[in-house]
Amino acid sequence: MRVSKRIAGLTGGGSDGWDILRKSREMIAAGIDVVELTIGEHDRRTEPEILDEMARSARSGHTGYAALPGTDGLRDAIAARVAERTGVATARENVVVTPGAQSALFAAHVAACDPGDVALFIDPFYATYPGTIRGVGAVAKAVRAHAETGFQPQAIDLEKAAPGARSLLINSPNNPTGVVYSEDTMQGICEVAKAHDLWVISDEVYDTQIWSGAHLSPRQLPGMADRCLVAGSLSKSHAMTGSRLGWLIGPAEVMEHVENLSTHTTYGVPGFIQDAGLFALAQGQRLEDQIAAPFRRRHKAVATYLAARGVPVVPSVASMYLMVDVRSTGLSGEAFAERLLGEHYIAVMPGESFGTAAAGHLRVALTVEDTRLLDAIQTMADMIETLSANAA
Ligand SMILES: Cc1ncc(COP(=O)(O)O)c(C=O)c1O
Repeated sequence: MRVSKRIAGLTGGGSDGWDILRKSREMIAAGIDVVELTIGEHDRRTEPEILDEMARSARSGHTGYAALPGTDGLRDAIAARVAERTGVATARENVVVTPGAQSALFAAHVAACDPGDVALFIDPFYATYPGTIRGVGAVAKAVRAHAETGFQPQAIDLEKAAPGARSLLINSPNNPTGVVYSEDTMQGICEVAKAHDLWVISDEVYDTQIWSGAHLSPRQLPGMADRCLVAGSLSKSHAMTGSRLGWLIGPAEVMEHVENLSTHTTYGVPGFIQDAGLFALAQGQRLEDQIAAPFRRRHKAVATYLAARGVPVVPSVASMYLMVDVRSTGLSGEAFAERLLGEHYIAVMPGESFGTAAAGHLRVALTVEDTRLLDAIQTMADMIETLSANAA
């Protein structure tokens, strides 16, 4: 039987960008000790207290169909958290609980775009973005950010791409670059969005991983709350990636449609997971800081070491990633990552996995224990130094 063009074309053909990860997993399965610095997942598991609450909730019977836009308690807690962090009035009616931010991003594009509409996103990008947009039948159109401008999207580039588009997907703090969009960048984004009547879909899953400065959501800027759909989740902030607990925030009348979408697709999130999420949020900032602490520490240690070695990195102040510029070696990010894995058993993601703008870079996930991480970084720096000297 023939499948639909939409599902067959979801990944856009070619590599899905995860070749190095697959290779490293094969090597690990074959017994090779690979240092895995690829995917964005903590090297700690979900807190035992959160799991206890999950089990308590399930045992007490919260195993049936759960409230669909989310339980009242969890929606209230998410709304309160967003209001407190952003200063923007946010109520239960502005929140739909989803199975992770990934599902919220899909819902946001369904809400914003009709089939055939152009949906903009910024290159470099989190690997699922173009597929998510294609999945709703919209046309994914990349707007390049540039290494030379610190991967801050420029209003002039957005302005060129915006005519006729319906939405713009942004991600700050950014995966893969670790860059936080400046107030100027955010102002530019919002001005273009208003001028061209675009929805701004803002992916804010890394909002608790900012090492200097503060997080700014486009929803905070004047006149933006009605055109913003914000995706968040507990995956990164609470080490709950496998619990699949996220949310979409937006205008109440839009959230009613998103609730309908949930009814006809996911049918919501299990009640015992929602109760565990409510418990996790009730632990407040203390737990979020505790979960973020290893990445803050490693980010500083790795950035300091690479600066001392003269290895260029993307100037970033956030997230569990650091981007290293290997263009001086004359190799593409892909070729460098292949060699690093093949010769030294260190797996990192090539910048090319995240679009064209970060070609010649590597995304290093700071997700292994500090000593092991710094040993791997030293090996990588040695290789960059040798290859760059040869290429000069
Ligand atoms: C930028 C970005 N958005 C969304 C997600 C998916 O988040 P969730 O686990 O909440 O679906 C990820 C996961 O790595 C991500 O890096």
